Amino acid sequence: MRRFALMLSCGVAVCAWKQASALPAPGPRQPVNPQAAWLAYSPVDARQVFPSGTPIPNTVLRLGDSTLESTAADELHRGFEDMLHRVLRLDTGATQAERDHNLIVVGTTREVAAWRPSLREGKQLAPEGFRLRRIVSGRDSLLMIEGADERGALYGAFALLRMIAEEQSLAHLEVVEAPSAPVRWTNEWDNPDGSIERGYAGRSIFFGNDDVRQDLARVREYARLLASVGINGCTINNVNADPDLLRPEKLREIARIAAEFRPYGVRLSLSIAMNSPQVIGGLKTFDPLAPEVAAWWRAKADEIYRAIPDFGGVIIKADSEGQPGPSQYGRTPAEAANVVARALKPHGGIVLYRGFVYNHHLDWRDSKADRARAGYDNFHSLDGKFDDNVIVQIKNGPIDFQVREPVSPLFAGLHKTNEAIELQITQEYTGQQRHLVFLVPMWKTALDTDMHVPGARPSLVRDIVTGRTFARPSGGFVGVANVGLDDYWLGHPLAMANLYGFGRLAWSPSLSAAAISDEWARLTFGNDTEVRRVVEALMLNSWHIYEEYTGPLGVGTLTDIIGVHYGPGIESAERNGWGQWIRADHSGIGMDRTIATGTGYIGQYPPGLAAEYETLKACPDDLLLFMHHVPYTYRLHSGKTVIQYIYDTHYAGATAAAAQVAAWETLAGKVPDRTYFEVLRRLNYQAGHAPVWRDAVVNWFHQMSGIADDQGRVGNHPNRIEAEAMHLAGYAPVAVTPWETASGGKAAMCGQAACSASTVFTRPDGWYDVAVQYFDLLDGVSHFTLEINGSPVDTWAADDTLPSDKLNGHTSTRHTTAGVALDRGDRIRIVGVPGGKEPAPLDYLEITRAFAVTAREAVKK
Ligand code: GCU
Repeated sequence: MRRFALMLSCGVAVCAWKQASALPAPGPRQPVNPQAAWLAYSPVDARQVFPSGTPIPNTVLRLGDSTLESTAADELHRGFEDMLHRVLRLDTGATQAERDHNLIVVGTTREVAAWRPSLREGKQLAPEGFRLRRIVSGRDSLLMIEGADERGALYGAFALLRMIAEEQSLAHLEVVEAPSAPVRWTNEWDNPDGSIERGYAGRSIFFGNDDVRQDLARVREYARLLASVGINGCTINNVNADPDLLRPEKLREIARIAAEFRPYGVRLSLSIAMNSPQVIGGLKTFDPLAPEVAAWWRAKADEIYRAIPDFGGVIIKADSEGQPGPSQYGRTPAEAANVVARALKPHGGIVLYRGFVYNHHLDWRDSKADRARAGYDNFHSLDGKFDDNVIVQIKNGPIDFQVREPVSPLFAGLHKTNEAIELQITQEYTGQQRHLVFLVPMWKTALDTDMHVPGARPSLVRDIVTGRTFARPSGGFVGVANVGLDDYWLGHPLAMANLYGFGRLAWSPSLSAAAISDEWARLTFGNDTEVRRVVEALMLNSWHIYEEYTGPLGVGTLTDIIGVHYGPGIESAERNGWGQWIRADHSGIGMDRTIATGTGYIGQYPPGLAAEYETLKACPDDLLLFMHHVPYTYRLHSGKTVIQYIYDTHYAGATAAAAQVAAWETLAGKVPDRTYFEVLRRLNYQAGHAPVWRDAVVNWFHQMSGIADDQGRVGNHPNRIEAEAMHLAGYAPVAVTPWETASGGKAAMCGQAACSASTVFTRPDGWYDVAVQYFDLLDGVSHFTLEINGSPVDTWAADDTLPSDKLNGHTSTRHTTAGVALDRGDRIRIVGVPGGKEPAPLDYLEITRAFAVTAREAVKK
């Protein structure tokens, strides 16, 4: 009898046997350039776009000679060729148009009126807006792209191309659009040495070796992507700013980046350090009220604009997380912002002053101390004191990009100040682009929150930041993007939906998450109904799934707060000055932020919204632990106790994460191979990391509360064999910190050239999937071999770059060998060979009935 057979092995997590038979056949859409992202311009069915009687244009007529209109014409040329196999003639004068009656015309309102006065439209377009029309007159069939200005013309061209990519009919084209707000910027947290703070996709596209990179091709491609969704500004360096970037020689280099942005209408901006006048200016002070400091900023602004005439402005992070700020001189954020704003004003520049100002040395023993209060406490009293070219940039929530937070009360606290919402595209607290999390639904909850501002009902956050609610002249959207040199820009190919979604929401914040995900899926993967259905379901469920296996009920992500913010680290939130406390003890959990008995944070909201949060009766379950401290036995509106909800969501979330793999596998051969495998690898990894999260959280709360799971799942792993319980040769058991991030709190490390852990299989003969849970440290590459009765059946390297060099919840990962035939009495052995500083650490073995077999049984039933 054949003792075992290896059907398939794969990276981490549960890998289905059917994967072997589902290798994608070379499809029609291979190969693809991943860097093109949603500008894939895949071939479309021309009959849908140009139904009979609607001719496809032959020529693009560009009415103006601006760089942006030129870019628009080039882009149309590229899009038509790729999607419709139509090579457009480019024309700048009316000559060709006299002969050719089938045109796309690109121009500004003024140029259109000058070209054909009869096309003048009564209704004026808003700045950066556009009008798309199909006009049939006599022999002419015109696709008109009319921009309010040059930028509008470019955005109109991209909008038309989007419609084509989505196979929308252009037969009766009549679209008028304008962006919701003037500020639609990304922030990139890049450092001059080429590293990126909270960047998860390779090195900087801008910098390397303390200089601007020589090759800026990716910068231009990035600007193209940004412009295609209407983003008009990009801050290229870390908010924890290096003052050196303002030195003359650096500005000359940075001007090269601005030159790459320019053809796409993306204005460059910089993060600046408030102490620059002192550090690089040689002044004795950086007091914003000192005349010499004001003069220094004026001279610096003049110098910047000489180098970069279309410079957008600056971002200021001050008095926050160790950054220098005006408090050093007893000055306010308004005084600091205004001194820089006045220097920029003559040039048309703006200041985005971050509302993220808080004390990270809070006293955790003080039950009234509350980091969430800081934004409002620091800025509310300054309302009306900021100059008109200052915008206060406010993170969506009052803490820091957790998996769920309420909106910051500061949005409703500034009526005479411009505001921008800061959203985080880079997934710092939401799986760092290793986990799939489509953030648009989360952002929508913030943007669609009604702040109940008295006298301004409704007062949705999206209307506040666009300036509508309080009739402010400026405001908008800032997305912390942190793209890198990775081919997919953000690492996870599906994470690009977040960048896309940010741009689309900044343009039109009333768009739904479903509409955005549908657009993005069509543009990235084409219009195939099945592909769209699978991709969209994955995207739209992903935030909820991640929330389920991490931190539910508004408690915070429950990640390692004082470390890399990635894997589980429940207690790290407590007993330190950072103020992300969850206040979990033996009897209950949650921050009491009520007005009645807590920190009073809820009182920062307008009364209508405060009333929703203040009482347990009215408070929504999903924010319960953000607002209240409750016993574990407290019953949610659903009737479930808090503790049981924590258990249930974690099991459900981990199961759902595994199911994502199977869903994606149905797309083999239907999406480009490379993207297929990149996504599959990550989803497999996520399916193996979600149980790490699940086990850490449920074990921790089980131990803390002493309350059993009513389904008896916690700590009960019938298929699991702990490494420390196996027969060890060379391996030695070690305690893992924090304890909840290793099964049983322990692992085994190898202290010699090679070690092994073995066990005898005692279950019935059959087909099994064998999962090895191990730790893959940043430093070093160990090798593992799985042997059955002395014969190797699988081997793999621990060569991922997970963000820690210790055994913990960041590094715990899984390799599954699927479809192994095991008989009772078989000897299963894992051989670990340390590499570099990595001691081939093992956590446990989990042997489950083969997925293939259980799937077949399920089908039979
Ligand atoms: C978070 C993040 C920091 C960042 C800061 C900010 O705290 O972890 O890396 O500098 O936000 O937004 O300024």
